[in-house]
Amino acid sequence: MCGIFAYTGEKRAAGILIDGLRVLEYRGYDSAGIYTAGSSAAVRAVGTVRNVADKAARLTGTSGIAHTRWATHGAPSEKNAHPHTDCNKSVWIVHNGIIENYKKLRERLTEHGHSFASETDSEVLAHLIEEHMKALGNDFEASARAALKEITGTYGVALMHKSLPGTVITARMGSPIVIGIGSGEYFIASDPTPILHHTKDVVYLNDGEFALISKKGYTISTLDNAAIERIPSTIEWNIDDVKKGGFEHFMLKEIIEEPEVILNAIRGRLVIEEGLAQLGGLREVEDKLAGIKRLVIVGCGSAYYAGVVGKYMLEEYAGIPTEVEIGSELRYRKMLFDEETAIIGISQSGETADTLAAIKEAQRKGVMTLGIVNAVGSTIARETEAGVYNHAGPEIGVASTKAFLSQLSVLALFTLFLGRQRDMSPVMGKRIAEELLLLPGKVERILNDRERIRTIAHKYEQTRDFLYIGRKYNSPIAYEGALKLKEVSYIHAEGYGAGEMKHGPLAMIDEAFPTFAIAPKDSVYEKMISNIEEIKARKGRVIALATEGDMTINEHVDDVIYMPKTLEMLSPILSVVPLQLFAYYIATARGFNVDRPRNLAKSVTVE
Ligand code: M6R
Repeated sequence: MCGIFAYTGEKRAAGILIDGLRVLEYRGYDSAGIYTAGSSAAVRAVGTVRNVADKAARLTGTSGIAHTRWATHGAPSEKNAHPHTDCNKSVWIVHNGIIENYKKLRERLTEHGHSFASETDSEVLAHLIEEHMKALGNDFEASARAALKEITGTYGVALMHKSLPGTVITARMGSPIVIGIGSGEYFIASDPTPILHHTKDVVYLNDGEFALISKKGYTISTLDNAAIERIPSTIEWNIDDVKKGGFEHFMLKEIIEEPEVILNAIRGRLVIEEGLAQLGGLREVEDKLAGIKRLVIVGCGSAYYAGVVGKYMLEEYAGIPTEVEIGSELRYRKMLFDEETAIIGISQSGETADTLAAIKEAQRKGVMTLGIVNAVGSTIARETEAGVYNHAGPEIGVASTKAFLSQLSVLALFTLFLGRQRDMSPVMGKRIAEELLLLPGKVERILNDRERIRTIAHKYEQTRDFLYIGRKYNSPIAYEGALKLKEVSYIHAEGYGAGEMKHGPLAMIDEAFPTFAIAPKDSVYEKMISNIEEIKARKGRVIALATEGDMTINEHVDDVIYMPKTLEMLSPILSVVPLQLFAYYIATARGFNVDRPRNLAKSVTVE
């Protein structure tokens, strides 16, 4: 949700900032802008970073701040694009987050004679710093601290002052900030991906922290200026992980990576002969986990649907009552927790504001918090007591694909881990472990059949509406399939538990409203066939996702896509892959940029 990038060193900043913004563009892409030291104005443009790049050619400074925006307050326009400045064009700021008290601050500052150039909440920060500078003898650092203390809401900011070229201030409250440490140069970003091009050594800021940076070094402190020592860490990812590698879109590249993603999630974590999962991130809380009687899973979007699959796995195989909650709902509800409950946050980015807020609330109540997170060093990974990393590598496409698959794989490992702590037999544990090992090859088989999926997708590319149905383990996958289609192709799509059809949705079915039915040969197969028949009886067209070898399903449906057989609890790990490809092929046939769907951003760090 908005990407910020800043640089200070000896090189020309503009080029570095443009490259950094390009990498961060997946966080927001409705407008972008740059300010570099020595300039009297910022360059800004509506649309993608490309639109700023030409204008930035004239910027010569060796330090600067940059921003790619996902609008919250004020429509996407040049005047609302960051960087923002004060009345004197001296203070320059980029901001990711939401300043909740901006209206009051803006009123007060207007009364003091400030005039505003944009409709954004962010601009108040520049004017607030300017106002404090009047009272604090033009001390930029002290004024920045004072201004940030007045802000309520969330921020990750990078700040500069015209009279201090080479100095960049950054601070965070709720929106991520990472500082890259180069040799005689420093980088500040909303996430590590643009920093990877320059250095792997980074420090992550925590909420309430403030850093003063120049090419000579950096200091971290609280807003009250109490010094903080932080040992740098090393980014695990490589530069190739954040490149398209010859694929037209990140979304397709990331789907194709899925066999390896499963392998990375399970590598070194299975003891096949004993039917056990070894999860290093849970070692320290192993005993505590053995006493847990109830689990609450929290996530948003695809992560939430992964959580629903996790609930079914955990209840069936570990015997632990599990609830799944949407982050934005849970955070404002009365949470009924006790000391025998643990909360698990699932998040690819590890920065989703609603998921994080729910976890923090649970933490305040003394509940054990766990994370299933992909981005190493992210806030949720650091805030939770223990957890399991996905090791899926960076996911750049806004639509979650490989991260979703790895979340399901980790949930299966987690089920094995908790199940074997309880009543799961070694034989059952071994069965799950062995089957997990076979999944990468099975996903590979689905991927090899992608031309057929493309052909079927093209038959339906002009459809206005789509229904996705599934049962039991594949009912959350129906929701996920619908989410994938709507977010990349803008086709109206709904997911439903197939048994619910007769309670309402069946009314929508006619020749123009097709259904994607997930119908593997499992314990609810016959029920699915009945649901498919109900749709066919209303002239609805049906695409079925069926188990290899199931020839009878052809009699019931219009098109069939096959997937290999696996354990019922693991079938979502296979069934979601054709659904992702189907959405990809429909969206690209309709000419959309699937990596950057309109109105969306990758990391939702605002409410
Ligand atoms: O980074 P997270 O996993 O916490 O993100 C959660 C959702 O924002 C994310 O899954 C979103 O729904 C995707 N666009 C779905 O493809």
